[in-house]
Amino acid sequence: MDEQSDRQVYLDHAASTPARPEVVEAMLPWLSEHPGNPSGAHRMARDARRAIDDARDAVAALVGMEPGGVVFTSGGTEADNLAVDGVLRAGSGVAVCSAAEHAAVLEPVRESGGVVLPTDAGGRIDLVALEETLDSIADIRLVSVMAANNETGVINPVAEVVALVTERAPDAVVHSDAVQATAWLDLSEICSGVSLVSITGHKFGGPKGAGALVVDSGVALVPMLRGGGQERERRSGTQNVPAIVGLGRAAELVVVDREETAARVAAMRDRLEAGLLAAVPGARRTVPDGVDRTPAVAHLCFEGIENEALLFLLEQKGVCASAASSCSSGAQEPSHVLAAMGIDRKVAAGSLRLSMARTTTDADVDHALSVIPEIVGRLSEYA
Ligand SMILES: Cc1ncc(COP(=O)(O)O)c(C=O)c1O
Repeated sequence: MDEQSDRQVYLDHAASTPARPEVVEAMLPWLSEHPGNPSGAHRMARDARRAIDDARDAVAALVGMEPGGVVFTSGGTEADNLAVDGVLRAGSGVAVCSAAEHAAVLEPVRESGGVVLPTDAGGRIDLVALEETLDSIADIRLVSVMAANNETGVINPVAEVVALVTERAPDAVVHSDAVQATAWLDLSEICSGVSLVSITGHKFGGPKGAGALVVDSGVALVPMLRGGGQERERRSGTQNVPAIVGLGRAAELVVVDREETAARVAAMRDRLEAGLLAAVPGARRTVPDGVDRTPAVAHLCFEGIENEALLFLLEQKGVCASAASSCSSGAQEPSHVLAAMGIDRKVAAGSLRLSMARTTTDADVDHALSVIPEIVGRLSEYA
């Protein structure tokens, strides 16, 4: 039996990335020193309300929309569910998305009897299929297109989707799950013309359990959580003040070093991919050349091996990574994203997602390069 590695290398940042120290520092007083409920009437309540309104301003600035449109949620899943269900419940009509969306969008779209479109080989929404659907179904109410994919980092043509919907189905609204784009792309630019945007803190230096759906003023939304009428009647329940403060701080900080971080991480991602492709016979990059993607993910397929065994041996060597989307609770089911891209099941079975962030170092990449080829080689021998 192999010895466990002393070195721990975390290459699963697309699943969750650490909160920045400044975020933790900003949150702490709101866990103990400031107990006010933001819905209350006294001074401490007003302090809490002011704190979440500052966070509202920061999130609105990040997305390029109005602070009044920010609905704080428990994260990306709730924001996505609220976007799809909330819009559909506010009027009749059909929702549309692609087969590569996150389950938090796909499931509500499917459950509502909506249309799930194919993708191209890069996993991007098929614009021709979208156009045909917009032309053939009269009552399309919502089109949901993720800004960047959680498994591959592939960037969708959001502006083209907005243009098509505006032209062919002017009564419909566009939602974008920008959860995996926030750390890397200027949301105010890429989500321009989008009516609803989902984000979540734990993918860009904020805390887990804090996210937002940012909604354009003209969009009617029926809440999923009813009760006290918080968040302008769009999401009842006492706000999670410490987490929202952390989300706001992360929103302020991410824009400061985003470009520099993206360039540095892209160089590490390219070095990691090139090193693995050179060292592992038969390895292939999952995303075709020329497809735009965020710097976050090195995604490779090693045909003939099972990624469950690969992940187990990687962990023994101190590397934490993932294969299918982490949100499938660690279960290594075949990836619906790779299936949508037309990747053969046998090839997809040997896929590996190594995802990076601001805190990733060259030494992390060196360690991954020093252990992965040998592990894949060993697994290939038993294949
Ligand atoms: C693209 C995308 N959307 C939504 C979610 C769900 O976000 P949360 O974990 O905050 O519920 C994730 C999480 O992995 C994601 O990657």
